[in-house]
Amino acid sequence: METAMILLTHELPPDWLTTLSGKDVLVANGDPSAEFPGQLDRFLEEAQAILSLLSVPIGEDLIQRMPRLKVISNMAVGVDNIDLSACTRRGIPVGNTPEVLTEATADLTMALLLAIARNIPSAARDAAEGRWKTWMPAGWLGTDLGGAVLGIIGMGKIGKAVAARAHAFGMKIMYVDPHEFQGSIADRVTLDECLAQSDIISLHCPLTSETRGLINSSRLQLMKESALLVNVGRGPIVDTNALLQALQAGRIAGAALDVTDPEPLPKNHPLYQLPNCLIVPHIGSATRGTRKRMAEIACANILAGLEGRALPHCVNPDVYQNKNPG
Ligand code: DGY
Repeated sequence: METAMILLTHELPPDWLTTLSGKDVLVANGDPSAEFPGQLDRFLEEAQAILSLLSVPIGEDLIQRMPRLKVISNMAVGVDNIDLSACTRRGIPVGNTPEVLTEATADLTMALLLAIARNIPSAARDAAEGRWKTWMPAGWLGTDLGGAVLGIIGMGKIGKAVAARAHAFGMKIMYVDPHEFQGSIADRVTLDECLAQSDIISLHCPLTSETRGLINSSRLQLMKESALLVNVGRGPIVDTNALLQALQAGRIAGAALDVTDPEPLPKNHPLYQLPNCLIVPHIGSATRGTRKRMAEIACANILAGLEGRALPHCVNPDVYQNKNPG
């Protein structure tokens, strides 16, 4: 039997890929940029699977050049980099890696939330740069978390895991979501109520045409001047210029971003200069165990797609409507 050819858009540690051993895996190496690697271009006609990262756009033009493509597997829970409608039209199942990264991403959300609420980046910089002269009664004052209102936008698995952590810190929690969750530790409110009443807003919704630019200048205007914004969802949910202006003008008190628009944010971007803005390089799921598990799930999706079975985690199950996967 012919070996299936799998295109892997970026190098991954070999022990994350053991289930693909024996397969013809072509790995793009070199520049880890956000493009589909040109080195793989000459294999497009032959390849049957793509194992991609969330940073690699996969559009209709690319999949049209892949007549033998059977499956795309994204090593991420988010799949906004992939043209899902085009894949569904072509009958190509797309896999993702949900659940396994919930706890790590919720932990990172709390780390960012605590860091920005307690001025840790600017206090650490002041200490390292000699501005720590003595114990200062009114220096580096932050926000009390106990009793503060956390507004969660997007109450999926990660939003709920953040809510559980915040509850343990004594925060009051409200959320915005198309669904109501009975017996939840949080109250469902409208977006405007959430923005107006929260001391900290945390974004956990997927990036869709509805959520792109959701946090724009008029929505930032609704927030309290003392409020903080945490984004661990996707960069384009926040209008970057509007956020910059709001922080510069003191319209809101601070922001902590795991994701940015564009991503990466260029190193000379003015947001990096602001003492009340903390930016980390999309590390929400970056723990050793989580990333390995994500890769293993991505491989399981690939193997299922190649064998014509339903993917363990498929984001476009409509693709199976006219087929009968095993
Ligand atoms: C995802 O998986 O979508 C996260 O953004 C990175 O782990």
